[in-house]
Amino acid sequence: MKKILITGGAGFIGSHVVRRFVTKYPNYQIFNLDALTYAGNLENIADIDKSPNYTFVKGDIVDADFITDLFQKHQFDGVLHLAAESHVDRSITDPLAFVKTNVIGTMNLLNAAKMIWANNFEGKRFYHISTDEVYGSLGAEGLFTETTPYDPNSPYSASKASSDHFVRAYGETYGLPYVITNCSNNYGPNHFPEKLVPLFIHNIINNKPLPVYGDGKYTRDWLFVIDHAIAIDLVFHEGKNHETYNIGGFNEWQNIDLVKLLCRQMDAKLGRVAGESEKLITYVKDRPGHDLRYAIDASKINKELGWKPSVTFEQGLEKTIDWYLSNEDWLQHVTSGAYQEYYQKQYS
Ligand code: NAD
Ligand code: DAU
Repeated sequence: MKKILITGGAGFIGSHVVRRFVTKYPNYQIFNLDALTYAGNLENIADIDKSPNYTFVKGDIVDADFITDLFQKHQFDGVLHLAAESHVDRSITDPLAFVKTNVIGTMNLLNAAKMIWANNFEGKRFYHISTDEVYGSLGAEGLFTETTPYDPNSPYSASKASSDHFVRAYGETYGLPYVITNCSNNYGPNHFPEKLVPLFIHNIINNKPLPVYGDGKYTRDWLFVIDHAIAIDLVFHEGKNHETYNIGGFNEWQNIDLVKLLCRQMDAKLGRVAGESEKLITYVKDRPGHDLRYAIDASKINKELGWKPSVTFEQGLEKTIDWYLSNEDWLQHVTSGAYQEYYQKQYS
């Protein structure tokens, strides 16, 4: 039986990865390590928490002694590292929190893996889940490839870039067997409503303004979260050591066009007159250092591992809206308390 550590498994993407591994690989013992920050939520994985091959561990990756003890105790064979501070806007107001979790936290995991594997790397793997934001911003043309130079612009992307560099450095210097993936914007069920898609779904339901930053012409490449989890499974099992793979949706949207599509789909679902939700669109002050455009060339993972997205954006968005409309309790729980304070500060 293999012992696999997944960090950040109570968050958005991590919960889909944990579910996939726990249900698809009964011969793996899955440990989900999560500090349960504002973004972590055990409700995201309540359906699998009684599975015999699943253990939840509450803990902070910034605590080096705790991480060392955990690795010594369980002798993990593999690590999938997703735990992170993940929201660009929060990184602008509190950059140090991003250095702590994303850089120091990753270092602690690398050191612990290096210690227990002690140069016997057969069957071991450290998989670092990263973002396309490390490449900076594109102009109107071009795509990010695996060889695009790093050029991060926000404290979030700078901290992720730093952690990617440390993972590579541990591979080069100590021979640690690693893989890294850099993925584009995810959307789907269980997404915390601070990010564009779930925040706007929540606001449309509640007839609240839809705060579009700047002129709304910023472009992102959107991928359904379950397709990301499928790609992560594939890279963990079939990716080559010391390689990076870009993951993306082949699906670029300007924010304003995405928001209008979302409004149309929500009007239909909520039985509103067509055009009603669009009236909520409100242009607000831009995000400082806002990256103009992200777009991924995912041909490497497609050619080498045969991965491609399984749903169109319209299908994925409809599944996402349906999930939020039938999980009002979830939305209610995550938008009470501290969320209200955050919202006031960010959007007032
Ligand atoms: P998220 O914010 O939804 O979840 C992060 C999880 O990490 C939470 O459960 C949180 O409790 C946990 N966590 C945070 N700090 C921790 C700490 N110090 N110790 C232990 N656990 C901690 O994030 P997400 O959107 O699911 O992103 C997961 C990973 O994927 C991140 O590394 C992110 O950079 C990367 N990524 C995200 C996207 C996206 O669109 N969301 C795209 C590409 C890459
Ligand atoms: O590209 C991958 C990255 O995608 C991940 O690494 C990050 O963890 C994830 O948060 C996401 O970053 P973005 O900054 O692109 O996502 P966000 O949903 O915050 O914003 C998407 C776009 O929408 C961006 O151009 C900013 C804009 N936006 C966002 C919010 C929250 C608005 O116009 N209004 C808003 O209220």
